[in-house]
Amino acid sequence: MTKIALVTGANKGIGFETAKQLAQQNIKVLLGARNETEGKKAEGILRDLSLDVTYIKLDISDSTDIENVKNYIEGEHGALDILINNAAVFLDGEWFGNNTETVTLKTLRDTFDINYFGTVELTQALLPAIRKSDAGRIVNVSSVSGSFGVHLDETHWLYALKPYAYSASKTALNQFTVFLANALSDSKIKVNAVNPGWVQTSIGSDQAPLTPAEGAKSGVEMALIDENGPTGTFSQSGEILPW
Ligand SMILES: NC(=O)c1ccc[n+]([C@@H]2O[C@H](COP(=O)([O-])OP(=O)(O)OC[C@H]3O[C@@H](n4cnc5c(N)ncnc54)[C@H](OP(=O)(O)O)[C@@H]3O)[C@@H](O)[C@H]2O)c1
Repeated sequence: MTKIALVTGANKGIGFETAKQLAQQNIKVLLGARNETEGKKAEGILRDLSLDVTYIKLDISDSTDIENVKNYIEGEHGALDILINNAAVFLDGEWFGNNTETVTLKTLRDTFDINYFGTVELTQALLPAIRKSDAGRIVNVSSVSGSFGVHLDETHWLYALKPYAYSASKTALNQFTVFLANALSDSKIKVNAVNPGWVQTSIGSDQAPLTPAEGAKSGVEMALIDENGPTGTFSQSGEILPW
């Protein structure tokens, strides 16, 4: 049977490439995007490649959109096999330095509303459909910015980059990954976090070494693991990362 996947923030960047690579595996992909014009444009590009994709309006910070997507998936497909929680924002402004003393509560709240609360609300809403899959997979696209291990390691290249709102939101997402994997340990569902690497996108800038297609690989691989694959891990290209 054809598998069904939902990718959030699939109109551009890593999300678009993730949707493309999953669809190339003969998976039917729902392209979540908050902007209808952008979402339909992405749908058109992938359909021109004969890929089975459908745009679905999804602002992950909008409870009505989440409810509509849940109802659409349950009504149209019954089960959801793969959820890629990719959508995120970077609102700190600067990557370099440490803005912990000055970052505004508005920036923190706006970041958490999308990167953390939106992702948690969507995932909880879709869990009944994911439970109906024979092999549910949840992939949280996180970041090494959220890793305590990296931020405590003075020799790590990212040590000098401490944008607090974005990093803290990804740390919270990592905790969600560990706790959800534990909560679902008696099911067939596997929950993992991945770091895409430093990728040429709006968030990563054009200075980054990896293309969006390369950045999508870690998440796609984790979405396609079999029943012997891991759960509750944080990795990039199969290499385990410190939490
Ligand atoms: N690029 C990197 O170097 C890097 C490194 C580590 C982790 N990541 C992670 O990779 C993921 C993808 O980011 P990217 O690098 O591909 O950046 P991007 O090109 O800016 O893509 C972000 C996507 O998220 C969407 N989005 C933002 N807020 C949303 C909301 N409320 N509802 C639905 N969609 C929303 C954006 O939609 P709009 O177009 O409407 O804004 C866009 O499609 C993120 O989780 C990011 O944290 C990236």
